Amino acid sequence: MTRPVALVTGANRGIGRGIAVALAGRGFDLVCADLAATPETAETLRLAHEAGGRHRFAALDIADVEAHAGRLAEIRAEAGPIACLVNNAGVQTPNRGDMLDVTPADFDRVLGVNLRGTFFLTQAVARLMLGEPDPAPGRSIVTISSSSATIAYPLIAPYGLSKTGLRMMTQLFALRLAEAGIGVYEIRPGFIRTEMTAAAAGPYDAFIMAGGVPERRWGTPEDVGRAVATLAGGGFTHVTGEAISVGGGLQIATVR
Ligand code: NAI
Repeated sequence: MTRPVALVTGANRGIGRGIAVALAGRGFDLVCADLAATPETAETLRLAHEAGGRHRFAALDIADVEAHAGRLAEIRAEAGPIACLVNNAGVQTPNRGDMLDVTPADFDRVLGVNLRGTFFLTQAVARLMLGEPDPAPGRSIVTISSSSATIAYPLIAPYGLSKTGLRMMTQLFALRLAEAGIGVYEIRPGFIRTEMTAAAAGPYDAFIMAGGVPERRWGTPEDVGRAVATLAGGGFTHVTGEAISVGGGLQIATVR
């Protein structure tokens, strides 16, 4: 039996690593993509190998949209047809602060990676998927957006704008690819303990423990990985264009 191949962007660390390990455990071979191979890459691959399967690294900058088609052709030749794309790579707003001070450079950087990069990578992968002569059933595209796809956080305005764009992107690709049997999903993590949230860990911690997150705990990369693996592994049928919040009830939090 050949294992389906999943391409996970931003897989060197954090949530991407959690997703990679969960997918390996679910029977996928992985292409772990990130900007460059680092010692973090080796750790992701080590953990994935512990879970079983054949896994490799691929250098892929999602913001470099002109390079996507060429890189994907190489990945396809080396690893085989892509059964699942996980759009996980993303960046936070470089300068956390008042939206009245947001610069065009910061705006372009965040939108360029998170929305423009993700859209065009998804487009390129969708073209590849549609061109496969004998596709296996159960293919999927899972995009990691954020609770900020629907909740306004004024200190990270460009980030929220990029993530709300991914919400619509998911719906658009779900419509375009439904007939081909490719499920398209969005995962909205809440507060996940990674390097991305380290800079604001103090205020987030206070908010979480005060009940802003009803489960009163930080999320983990494993929480997100489990949700992605369930979707990509075919845990839902006749479902596409949907979003799942992985935030301990953050999206329904209220004053008590
Ligand atoms: P992280 O900063 O720890 O890891 C991000 C990874 O993406 C890094 O390995 C980085 O090298 C890679 N990356 C960045 N730009 C890239 C590019 N242009 N091309 C390829 N790879 C690139 O972040 P974390 O926390 O693991 O976040 C992963 C995803 O989850 C991001 O999209 C983030 O916006 C989203 N997210 C994170 C939350 C959190 O609380 N940590 C909450 C909601 C969403």
